[in-house]
Amino acid sequence: MAAILLDGRTLADRIQKELGEKTSALCAARVVPGLATILVGNNPASAAYIAVKHRACEAVGVRSVHFHLPEETTQDRLEGIVRDLNRDAEVDAILVQLPLPAGLNEEAALRAIDPDKDADGLHPVNLGRLVMGTPGPLPCTPTGIHALLVHYGVPIEGRHVVIAGRGLTIGRPLALLLSMKRPHCNAAVTVVHTGVPDIGVYTRQADILIAAAGFPGLITPEMIRPGAAVVGAGITRQGKTILSDVEESVGEVAGWITPRIGGVGPMTVAMLLQNTLLASARRTRVS
Ligand code: GUN
Repeated sequence: MAAILLDGRTLADRIQKELGEKTSALCAARVVPGLATILVGNNPASAAYIAVKHRACEAVGVRSVHFHLPEETTQDRLEGIVRDLNRDAEVDAILVQLPLPAGLNEEAALRAIDPDKDADGLHPVNLGRLVMGTPGPLPCTPTGIHALLVHYGVPIEGRHVVIAGRGLTIGRPLALLLSMKRPHCNAAVTVVHTGVPDIGVYTRQADILIAAAGFPGLITPEMIRPGAAVVGAGITRQGKTILSDVEESVGEVAGWITPRIGGVGPMTVAMLLQNTLLASARRTRVS
């Protein structure tokens, strides 16, 4: 039996429509939510992601500004721009697109962002809040994956989630989120990486398998338990082609699966807009 599609495009469109209505209400109260993005260098994948984020802002009525800085930008200059944006009353949320070019310190750049304007939930203070279980901006791809699983009725509580990939933007925060003591979380979570010998020993135990390694075709049908939910969050761009961490044929064995295009990506963008609106409402005390 073919797997149920975890259709992120349709769900993200619905969320964006609701966010558009909330933005209109904020604008009526003379509050225009604003997102600032910073891209350093000319990574084509990053430039494409940034373009998608700005189109989404426009669609929901969020004001967005973009700073495209040259490859040779210094750490001081980058952090100086972040600090200016921290003080800018028209900017509610700031995103520094990762990865930064070699030689720039990502952690220091993220740390320069005011934690209350952290669009990505990747500031150490906000990652700390996630560890503690206290409210704060949450990382966009993990919350997008969680929302997708919840929306499609994939059972999470008490189930075994295996995450292949331990990166800062997906694997690590997602493990924290899904293991939190709260409804629709409470999962048993295992994090593995591509250096683990015979990764299939772990993936075959998963009720929910999240592939977030950025390693094309990492997950093959024999690596999953029949009926499991499989989420492809890691992608690799090869020219104009997007390669998934999950082989297409996994859909013949899985119970639920994300499509190669229109799964996690649109959900990440919707959660970024949500974080921007929440930051705006927090700062202006309008909800
Ligand atoms: N690069 C890839 N994913 C992300 C993300 O979620 N946030 C940022 N800032 N950069 C990324």
